[in-house]
Amino acid sequence: MGFGGGKVILVGEHAVVHGVPAIAAGVRRGVTAIAQCAEEDSLHLEPWGRTFRPDASSDEPLARAFDRILSSYRDRPPLRLDVRVDLPPGAGLGCSAALGVSLLDAVDKALGVQRSRAALGAVALEWERFFHGAPSGIDNIASAMGGVLCFRQGSPVRRISPARALSLVVAHSGQPSNTKDMVALVSQQLAERPAWARRMLDEVHALVLDAEIALRHGEILALGRALDRNHRILRSLRLSTPRLEELCAAARSAGALGAKITGAGGGGCIVALAGDSDHAIRIADSLDAESFVEEVSSAA
Ligand code: PMV
Repeated sequence: MGFGGGKVILVGEHAVVHGVPAIAAGVRRGVTAIAQCAEEDSLHLEPWGRTFRPDASSDEPLARAFDRILSSYRDRPPLRLDVRVDLPPGAGLGCSAALGVSLLDAVDKALGVQRSRAALGAVALEWERFFHGAPSGIDNIASAMGGVLCFRQGSPVRRISPARALSLVVAHSGQPSNTKDMVALVSQQLAERPAWARRMLDEVHALVLDAEIALRHGEILALGRALDRNHRILRSLRLSTPRLEELCAAARSAGALGAKITGAGGGGCIVALAGDSDHAIRIADSLDAESFVEEVSSAA
């Protein structure tokens, strides 16, 4: 059995595609895969009742990505993979990365391949490319490693140990988010306004540094402010929607210390920071949306 976790990005999505660091936190929900020897290779996605065979020339990205994963193992028996998905797809929670990580993890275990979670996450980038074009790599690394991480393309990933547990509320707008389209929208705006782009990326970089200090010192008010400031930048990049604005405003009215889009935006989820776990439950209950509370442990 293999597992890939979901994630929320606390600060720095999109800017991370352009070389700025970002901070992600793993969530407990994720994707579980079971690999078994079989007559032929197949992938079964339980929640959607869909089956795929590996096929490098298929129109279906899942069939091509599955083919790529399997062909990275030599001298293996045919495998059947059964997948249980406990994350909404297209919601900014890293569902596709979690799927790739869970499959690789399950095949590794079935074949006795040993590798670290960091190495597993790095290999899963190949899988992500079938769905998101040129992903930064944050989703696959966060999915494999869990905990709170500072990720920057081309640099070793760093774990951050928050000085105190974080109580997060994740709420779904009910609108789908398309990462590839949103990344293209941001890249287009950055290309059109290079001086503004430089300033904006510098500002996000400073926010990520502030957020890391806040996490390390347990300063949740400062962390909340960083989330709000990051949301304003994401909104200026046209990544928000009236529904996402409504959810962020409602979370703040319920006392959230900060609230923002998480992930690609244009739909998907928001993440809000609460004072403690009871407060997080109250915020979640006050939102007219599908939501869950995530406790990010200080020991992660
Ligand atoms: O695919 P999502 O919504 O989990 O977001 C991924 C984060 C982005 O920064 C928008 C894209 C990337 O590859 O880093």
